[in-house]
Amino acid sequence: MALTTLIKALPKAELHLHIEGTLSPALMWELAQKHGIKLPFSSVCEIETAYQFSDLQSFLDLYYAGADVLRSEEDFYQLMQAYLQRCKEHNIVHTEIMFDPQTHTHRGVPFDVFMTGFVRAIDEAQEEWGVSVRLIMSFLRHLSEADAITTLQDAEPWYDIIDAVGLDSSELGNPPEKFERVFNQARTLGFKVVAHAGEEGPPDYIWQAINLLNIDRIDHGVRCAEDKELMALIKHRQIPLTVCPLSNLKLKVIEDMATHNILELLEDGLLVTVNSDDPTYFGGFLNDNFAVLESALGMNEQQCRQLVKNSFMASFLDDTEKQAWIQKVDAI
Ligand code: ADE
Ligand code: ZN
Repeated sequence: MALTTLIKALPKAELHLHIEGTLSPALMWELAQKHGIKLPFSSVCEIETAYQFSDLQSFLDLYYAGADVLRSEEDFYQLMQAYLQRCKEHNIVHTEIMFDPQTHTHRGVPFDVFMTGFVRAIDEAQEEWGVSVRLIMSFLRHLSEADAITTLQDAEPWYDIIDAVGLDSSELGNPPEKFERVFNQARTLGFKVVAHAGEEGPPDYIWQAINLLNIDRIDHGVRCAEDKELMALIKHRQIPLTVCPLSNLKLKVIEDMATHNILELLEDGLLVTVNSDDPTYFGGFLNDNFAVLESALGMNEQQCRQLVKNSFMASFLDDTEKQAWIQKVDAI
């Protein structure tokens, strides 16, 4: 079987996906028309052409501006519904989805509006084809810790359907230590915790995420390779890294896909996984991220299978569910 066919055929988990990063230019355009919002673009095509970034911040500026078209419950429903439809096409059977409440609450869109829309789409997709979904509430690290604490409190009516908290947005200058207290509170409340670290930020931010935030997983983490002691710890503890190849290329974390270190990390025995991050902004959903590993790095079948099995191992599913999916992967 050709590797691209195998990638499609294997059931997969996606663990690093921002729902706001799945807003397509077409939906952005449609919602702007619906709400009478004036975009700084004159066509869908112009939005697509604007998706060229020089670094993380240049992307975030556009990403937060784009999210402004999301206003009503129906908008959030449509956004989630479209991503879950992609999951079906890409054979993503389990997905752990990040959402950024502050991106919406700061524009006057309350929790009830986006959560109700998300949940309606998730319930429908679960009923239709059985996809399994977990939600990760991410705090914006360019805002204060006090704001994150308020957000954690405001989310209380939704605690039952939120599995984890995360940390995203502008990494440089906003180290994990800034959020030690709110992560402690979240852990005490029983949430799993993840954090973006070592995307643009130095290995020290990964150390902080591990030692101060007690994270269960690192989002990105590719810069761990600069610190041998850190690599050894991540390997020893099998702390998962949710790596996003196309994102790293688009945001210039790497210059060329041929220099991406994901397969080296895998061969060194780290629990690395493949993910799409913000697929409509970075030019590809999950299977496209796998495909580029074959075309640019020569990923072989064994590595591909290991990455897919890692996606379940690194997930928040329970052990029985993990083993059941891994057996299914082995049977294909
Ligand atoms: N928010 C959405 N995508 C992100 C990324 N790659 N890094 C940090 N924050 C983000
Ligand atoms: Zn991300």
